[in-house]
Amino acid sequence: MWSPSFVAALLLLLTPAAHTLKTGDWKTCSQSGFCRRGRALSARAQDAADVWKSPYSVIPSSVAVASNLASFTAAVKSSIYPEINFELDVRVHKDGVVRVRMDEVGGLRKRYDEAASWALVQEPEISRAIQWSVGKQEIKAKYGEKKDVEVTVEYNPLKVTLSRNGKEEVVLNGRGLLHMEHFRTKASGDDKPVEGSEGDAQAVMQTNPAAWFEGDTEDAWWEETFSSWTDSKPKGPESLSIDINFPRHGHVYGIPQHATSLSLPTTTGPSATFTDPYRLYNADVFEYLASSSMSLYGSIPLMHAHSAESTVAVFNAVGSETWIDIGRSNDRSTETHWVSESGILDVFILPGPTPEEVFAQYARLTGTPALPAHWSLAYHQCRWNYVSSDDVRGVQKRFDEEDIPVDVFWLDIEYAEEHKYFIWDKKTFPDPVEMTNDVDALERKMVVIIDPHLKRTSSYPVYQKASELAVLVKPKSGEGEYEGWCWSGSSSWIDGFNPASWEFWKGLFKTKSIDGQWSWTESTDAVHIWNDMNEPSVFNGPEITMPKDNVHYGGWEHRDVHNINGMLFTNMTYQAVAARSDPPKRPFVLTRSFYAGSQRFGAMWTGDNLGTWEHMTVNLKMALANGIGGMTFGGSDVGGFFGNPEPEMLVRWYAIGIFSPFFRAHAHIDTKRREPYLLDEPYKSILRDTIRLRYAMLPMWYTAFREATVTGIPILRPQYVVFPKDEAGFAIDDQFYVGASGLLVKPVTEKGATEASIYLAEDQVYYDYFAHYAHQGSVKGKYVTVPAALHQIPLLVRGGSIIPTRERHRRSSPLMKYDPFTLRVALDKVGSARGELYLDDGETYSHQDGEIVWREFTAETEKKSKVLRVSSKDLALEKPQEAVEGNALAHFDPANAYAKKIAHVRVEKIVLVGLGKQPKAVRVEGGKELDWDYAPGVSSGKEGQAGVLVVKDPAVTVVSDWTLVVEL
Ligand code: NOJ
Repeated sequence: MWSPSFVAALLLLLTPAAHTLKTGDWKTCSQSGFCRRGRALSARAQDAADVWKSPYSVIPSSVAVASNLASFTAAVKSSIYPEINFELDVRVHKDGVVRVRMDEVGGLRKRYDEAASWALVQEPEISRAIQWSVGKQEIKAKYGEKKDVEVTVEYNPLKVTLSRNGKEEVVLNGRGLLHMEHFRTKASGDDKPVEGSEGDAQAVMQTNPAAWFEGDTEDAWWEETFSSWTDSKPKGPESLSIDINFPRHGHVYGIPQHATSLSLPTTTGPSATFTDPYRLYNADVFEYLASSSMSLYGSIPLMHAHSAESTVAVFNAVGSETWIDIGRSNDRSTETHWVSESGILDVFILPGPTPEEVFAQYARLTGTPALPAHWSLAYHQCRWNYVSSDDVRGVQKRFDEEDIPVDVFWLDIEYAEEHKYFIWDKKTFPDPVEMTNDVDALERKMVVIIDPHLKRTSSYPVYQKASELAVLVKPKSGEGEYEGWCWSGSSSWIDGFNPASWEFWKGLFKTKSIDGQWSWTESTDAVHIWNDMNEPSVFNGPEITMPKDNVHYGGWEHRDVHNINGMLFTNMTYQAVAARSDPPKRPFVLTRSFYAGSQRFGAMWTGDNLGTWEHMTVNLKMALANGIGGMTFGGSDVGGFFGNPEPEMLVRWYAIGIFSPFFRAHAHIDTKRREPYLLDEPYKSILRDTIRLRYAMLPMWYTAFREATVTGIPILRPQYVVFPKDEAGFAIDDQFYVGASGLLVKPVTEKGATEASIYLAEDQVYYDYFAHYAHQGSVKGKYVTVPAALHQIPLLVRGGSIIPTRERHRRSSPLMKYDPFTLRVALDKVGSARGELYLDDGETYSHQDGEIVWREFTAETEKKSKVLRVSSKDLALEKPQEAVEGNALAHFDPANAYAKKIAHVRVEKIVLVGLGKQPKAVRVEGGKELDWDYAPGVSSGKEGQAGVLVVKDPAVTVVSDWTLVVEL
């Protein structure tokens, strides 16, 4: 048996964090057989552009329209391999999304076809209104309210086009790069491409079509070696290539997660930014590069294509490693090429045509983010590690002494004895339940890490039981348990694809043991979960992950499901935490790895970033891209995971943190402690004010989350989403809007900055949130300069917005639940404004039964009668169907139990910004005159210091209808 110190030393050697980035640990395209083959296919097609023709075609006589007319199937053949059969299935969903599926049928094996079933929230409803018209050379259907959308499937060669108003918007296989490598037997000489792809393309095409199309070597078909690892590839070649072109869109976004700009730079052509395609292969890349097309922890194969005319998208539901080339022959169109290692073709074309519609279409497919528990939007304090229960208590005490609000304390892996998750190290955490209760007493929570690798030892009941149930991933032999190395030393991995693992996993989280089964009795309902290393990270595996020939439930290879694997682990954990309490409370689960659909199970973060200005900058762009992919509940390690940030950087990072949907400070084990109370002045006070601003704005954040959970629209909105017609904003990714609140943030990511430049896309007034200076925008777009000294956050409020806040200082957010509200009314150029406030109990599911408060605030200036009215009305009553996720409310009762509970909660202050005139009187309709203060300044249509009216204690409540009348 190895001694603990030997194991510790070995682990340190194997620990990614102990190294600096070695890009050589991960493959480039040229080191990946199928990517090489895909790129070679594309190069051959380009070289032989004049003669190149996709060998795939639809057999016209096979086209079979379903009896409900909504979909059709057809046989597809490749002229290269006429004996191989493929089937095409095309359908149009009720909302206009087109699904194109193609699979090899009757082949030697079955391709993995379950990626969509993990990603999709439900089987989409097929349109009944579609009428396919079957022609001799094509089959097509027109649809949409104005019958302006058309999907056409041309037979020979096979080409799928989505057009709007007669113009092509999305084209599949337009460049003839579709190739589904059929299953073959190794020995078969017939299939083997033979020498002879050299020379004139046309000649080769005739004499040896397979070599012309597939190349003249069996490049890494049956085995592949990378570094010291050999992938046995028992199924041989089975990759899938497809070109997807956007002939009318000069910008593409999405396919997270990569450390790059939001508008994705090109990877092909003479001016390509990156030499490698974007890779989607969930990976634990320590100290990742700040600008790269390399893979990171999560993969969402969703791409938006955008122009001033429209937004469209494609979602390529594939779970295997995928590489995506992006090229542009002019700045008005984009060509992409997707190559995946295995799986069927299952592409969803999202017709838009607005960003909102694309988000809604994607949300109908993969779901919206779950409504988080309210506390999880507050401040999270983490580090690797708080080393003992007394350490946790001490940190909590210091926060309270310094009056810095915090809601959640986190425990990283060192809480667990020998990294056996769930099992407390009693030397340092002798009293975990008492510790949690001490945190809970101030209405705070704990988040504790649970990783997917289970230490292989008989002293670990979790491993033992998993082993007994045979719910662990298997090695390539398909027998026994795969063994690899991670934090816990020799480990095995829970196989989330095995249905039996779900019940087992659920059982573990019970805080009371049932039927003598082992469960986490040393935890409470105040403990929530952090899932890390779920790519999965395997320290001694190829590319720090699992061998691709490992075997999952159903006999599928790890290669087929790699990118989905992390999501399953989070899904299981989410279900387990939800099932823990009765009545259930909303679970909080943080994941590092993710896939399409992961938004349904909680939050993500951008992994092991560096404490550098560069990383701070790129993490911001990544947050926007993750939001495009549905993962709107995200953030980065505030302060940077690696390194010891100078105070200035830390302050700036907190200012980013408070404008991230997920706001957590975290640090590597080797870093110095940097909790906000440890800083010297003035930094400490700046951090206190910054975190307090987040707390004040929690009503705005929660309201923004409500919208995201109903519509799928991201919370951090880049310019192209808010102003889809303003070309000048399409590449802007260093500023963003927060939900529909009207807040426009431009984080400072430069050392020594004293001012910031913010782009305004419209002819509208924008007020400095703090100083109330009114900046006038322009129809042509305009940059304005705002002060940005260290204590200042460049934050504007768009004229026309009303922002609800709560401005009493508390130690944690649940302590604010009966606090009064402030409404900030930012008048637009014509003196009106609008805003919303959504509230519920913040932790249970009673909101789904209508226990909510959803208000609309409006401001209107009546020039003639010289009156400005600010009103509050019940939005839930007006739009019950749109009020909560799942559109569950058929009826709404304004006097529901929650509304009654907060019936006494007041609006304590109304701040009207942009009022150019001192009022004569202010009263609530039907009431007596109120107290107010007026600071003179310009009206909303003018540049300069804005006039501000503060109405103190209008004596109205937040649940009732009222109108404030300002006589001018
Ligand atoms: C890697 C994670 O990315 C990091 O946040 C964590 O602190 C370490 N694993 C240790 O659990």
